[in-house]
Amino acid sequence: MPAIVNVNGQLCREQDAVISVFDHGFLYGEGVYEVLRTYQGTPFLLDRHLARLRRSAGAIALEPPLSDEAFGARIRETIAALPVERPGATEYYVRVILTRGVGELGYDPAACPTPTLLVIAKELTGPPAWYFERGVRLALVSIVRNHPGTVNPRIKSNNLLNNALAMQEALRKGAAEALMKNYRGEIAECSQSNIFLVKDGRVATPPLGAGLLAGITRAFLFDVAPAAGLAIEEHTIQEADLYAADEVFITGTTFEVTPVVSIDDHRIGNGTPGPMAARLLATYRKMALEAVGPPYSE
Ligand SMILES: Cc1ncc(COP(=O)(O)O)c(C=O)c1O
Repeated sequence: MPAIVNVNGQLCREQDAVISVFDHGFLYGEGVYEVLRTYQGTPFLLDRHLARLRRSAGAIALEPPLSDEAFGARIRETIAALPVERPGATEYYVRVILTRGVGELGYDPAACPTPTLLVIAKELTGPPAWYFERGVRLALVSIVRNHPGTVNPRIKSNNLLNNALAMQEALRKGAAEALMKNYRGEIAECSQSNIFLVKDGRVATPPLGAGLLAGITRAFLFDVAPAAGLAIEEHTIQEADLYAADEVFITGTTFEVTPVVSIDDHRIGNGTPGPMAARLLATYRKMALEAVGPPYSE
């Protein structure tokens, strides 16, 4: 199914969606974004995504042009413009992109009075079911997660070259995700997901101070864990801790809770998805469905 793109309020087919080459998002990567997904056709945790979008935008001195209500309406209107091929069974991927906008060449933000706001909506097609059933392999890559004194990893920015290079390395190694350390050599996160381990029944993830994106799924899992009879601790994680773990899993909007069965040539646990990840995934999905409520029907 082709995507529908909302360009500054204008709904376009994907082949008609264009922005200026003088947009500073294109020229300099000056922009921020969010990726969200639907459950039962309803955007999930929209308020948290919009709050993070505002934090990211604030960190680059960019003013979002819409209220949360108007953002929500624009997202829903874009989704509604997609053809419904499997009524009731289709879930959607939504990417909201906010850039500095169009202006003279140069880094002065004053050159760009109007930000560009794009909403891309398409059918959610991944990840494949086997990710959850059989688990995935990570590659620990040589690319280091951004130092917080450079482009801070807390900003969900369009400046994604570091992540893209990390993922290129993982893809060359046939892995599903790229695991990165921070500049201190501790485990930080993956190119598009956060990382967790389970050891002796205890779940842990690196603290935000390790220099990582404050994942919406990561945060929601802190709400999910007690309902699954578990608690999550934040502490520094070293490479060896992952290899010695009973289970490892990654989280993200589309990854949900995806079990990791190996990191390069290191088998995790017995090399199959573990029971804690399975329990967290089941509880996560149940709570996501409860949060969005029943599917919309006329
Ligand atoms: C670097 C990075 N870490 C973590 C995540 C997971 O974040 P979320 O759970 O908000 O999707 C993403 C999402 O794309 C990401 O790009």
